[in-house]
Amino acid sequence: MKILVTGGLGYIGAHTVVELQAAGYEVIIVDNLSNTRIAVLDKIEQISGIRPQYSNFDLADRNACFDFFKNTKNIEGIIHFAAYKAVGESVQKPIMYYHNNIGSLINIMENMELHNIPNLVFSSSCTVYGQPDELPVTEQAPRKPAMSPYGNTKQIAEDIIRDTIYSSKLKSIALRYFNPVGAHETALIGELPLGVPNNLMPFITQTASGIRQQLSVFGEDYNTPDGTAIRDYIHVVDLAKAHVIAVKRMIEKTGKLDFEIFNLGTGNGFSVLEVIKSFEKVSEKKLNYKIVDRREGDIEKVWANTDFANMELGWKAEKSLDEMTLSSWNYQLELDKNN
Ligand code: WQD
Repeated sequence: MKILVTGGLGYIGAHTVVELQAAGYEVIIVDNLSNTRIAVLDKIEQISGIRPQYSNFDLADRNACFDFFKNTKNIEGIIHFAAYKAVGESVQKPIMYYHNNIGSLINIMENMELHNIPNLVFSSSCTVYGQPDELPVTEQAPRKPAMSPYGNTKQIAEDIIRDTIYSSKLKSIALRYFNPVGAHETALIGELPLGVPNNLMPFITQTASGIRQQLSVFGEDYNTPDGTAIRDYIHVVDLAKAHVIAVKRMIEKTGKLDFEIFNLGTGNGFSVLEVIKSFEKVSEKKLNYKIVDRREGDIEKVWANTDFANMELGWKAEKSLDEMTLSSWNYQLELDKNN
């Protein structure tokens, strides 16, 4: 069973590749290294003992995409991670986000139709909900106008998939991630964005390791118990395992609809200060941080209703916040050792 993983050298992609290999799938990776490093391919092989086939090209490049699919046969399914994902950057560079995130999806789906590749797992996001009116948020919650071009590309992508499924034989599962954090137990792969991290966890670990001077906590005046914003953090390995289940569901045709959508969260919300407290406990280090103004585009609080994913996929996130912060810290320590 050949599975194509686009963005397979990225943070969530690499963890998913490792779980797919453990489940016996043959994995092909396409990644243009725009937010990762080629060294991740070696790390995947070190973990699984299997080096995936790898191609480096831009999926938003129509000709390159068509050439690839013409020469790559027997793909049973595609997991499409490859996308730009920095909320703040998308506000500054919307065209770059629409061109990349929407262009690559369209190229992939055209080739799926052309080459009869039936199954697509799409990497979506809880940002499609905006600030939900009700919490925990279910898959039936109305989508709100996106707070950023990044969030809008996820909404548009879900619509493109829905419309395409309707008029073709393709099937798809969209997985709406909450906040992926943590690292593989080997500490060989983890979250390592290029440049200054946008996301909380890598900024915490880089501050603790002295790479960053100080963490800025974006706002302490939210309507939450400690005033800082709340998110549903989910361990990246729990997230990766859900992708293997989704691929199997489509290949074995046990899905209930041609297009299914699932929330992938833990169902628990934690504030920024609670994440910091967990990190300080597991790392036994005092974190240098200061409270600053809110970040534009941030929502106040969100956590998932995971009943549908738990029931339909037979999947439930297992790892605790402390396991998330500890695995992130162990990965940072491994990185620091090798630098
Ligand atoms: C988490 C919390 C910040 C950095 C985004 C995307 C989402 C997903 C994950 C791709 C917020 C606070 C952060 C910092 C801080 N992307 N924070 N100081 O914005 O919830 O979600 O990334 O999969 O789709 O929208 O994640 O980690 O940036 O922020 O105080 O230096 O941490 O305000 O409350 P976010 P995040």
